[in-house]
Amino acid sequence: MLRQFRARVAAETGAAPSTGELLAGRFAEIAGSLTVCCATDGNHGRSVAWGARTFGLPCVIYLHEQVSAGREAAIVRLGAEVRRVGGTYDDSVHRAAGDAAKNGWTVVSDTSYEGYRQIPRDVMAGYAVMAAEALAQWGAAPPPSHVFLQAGVGGLAAAVCGYLWQTLGAARPRVVVVEPETAACLFASAAEGKAATIGGDLDTVMAGLAAGETSLVAWDLLRHGADDFMTLPDASAPLAMRLLAAGVDGDPPLVAGESAVAGLAALICVRRRPALAAALDLDAESRVLLFSTEGDTDPVLYRELVGRTADEVRAATSDS
Ligand SMILES: Cc1ncc(COP(=O)(O)O)c(C=O)c1O
Repeated sequence: MLRQFRARVAAETGAAPSTGELLAGRFAEIAGSLTVCCATDGNHGRSVAWGARTFGLPCVIYLHEQVSAGREAAIVRLGAEVRRVGGTYDDSVHRAAGDAAKNGWTVVSDTSYEGYRQIPRDVMAGYAVMAAEALAQWGAAPPPSHVFLQAGVGGLAAAVCGYLWQTLGAARPRVVVVEPETAACLFASAAEGKAATIGGDLDTVMAGLAAGETSLVAWDLLRHGADDFMTLPDASAPLAMRLLAAGVDGDPPLVAGESAVAGLAALICVRRRPALAAALDLDAESRVLLFSTEGDTDPVLYRELVGRTADEVRAATSDS
């Protein structure tokens, strides 16, 4: 959002403004003319709405019919206009692109498609910060041997994979991409050897991962950088959420949402199946990196699946 806004101000005034100037509202008139939009399963659109509010940009977010009321409410609270679209996430991506072309809006999407690649690259650069922070915390210990990465369109997985590859080179971990079995477009891409699109209603409790069209930029990276592709049944997500909420092996409890736990759920699944563990070179010596990519982004659903609210889970943290 910052890059888009700065570029627009630079184009209109002839000078690139500082971030501070953009945040201070000095270019409110230009901000008002830069409408940003995107489609979302709930999380990316929420961050776009937050960024738009931060800089005072008008914002329109497209939600497909399966996005929960709780996720919609969170976006509305950030001041964005929400438009509901029939069909799947992919249908909402097409609608956002079409409306943006008609109205002269800027799509700020985490997925990329033919003719639209640069902004998703910036979004992916943002995701790579997670990997940078993880490696900084990892310190001097031998680097991770495996990383399990949950994927929707693949942007997040590709960004983390790319960062680890760039930073660790040949010592980079084995990259396992994890998707819900009903929305496994990257699994299909690996099978077909090209960025694939899958059909169906893509319905999954891991709502953030409910995508059927592979991001082209993500696939460019993952086709070389990912080692394995896995799918997961829906039932595995709530189990992993409850495990983290209870606190694992004396670790403090962790609030992690349905899509956040896909990597952990996949790891548990592999550890329980010796043949699969052997195929992935996973054993008791492995050092596995996982990312929890959301908290209770839908608080009502979180409570339904875990049996407690996020606050109750966190309160147990401070008691222990
Ligand atoms: C919580 C969560 N984790 C992971 C992802 C995967 O991101 P991507 O669609 O870039 O693969 C998403 C996507 O929105 C998400 O919401």
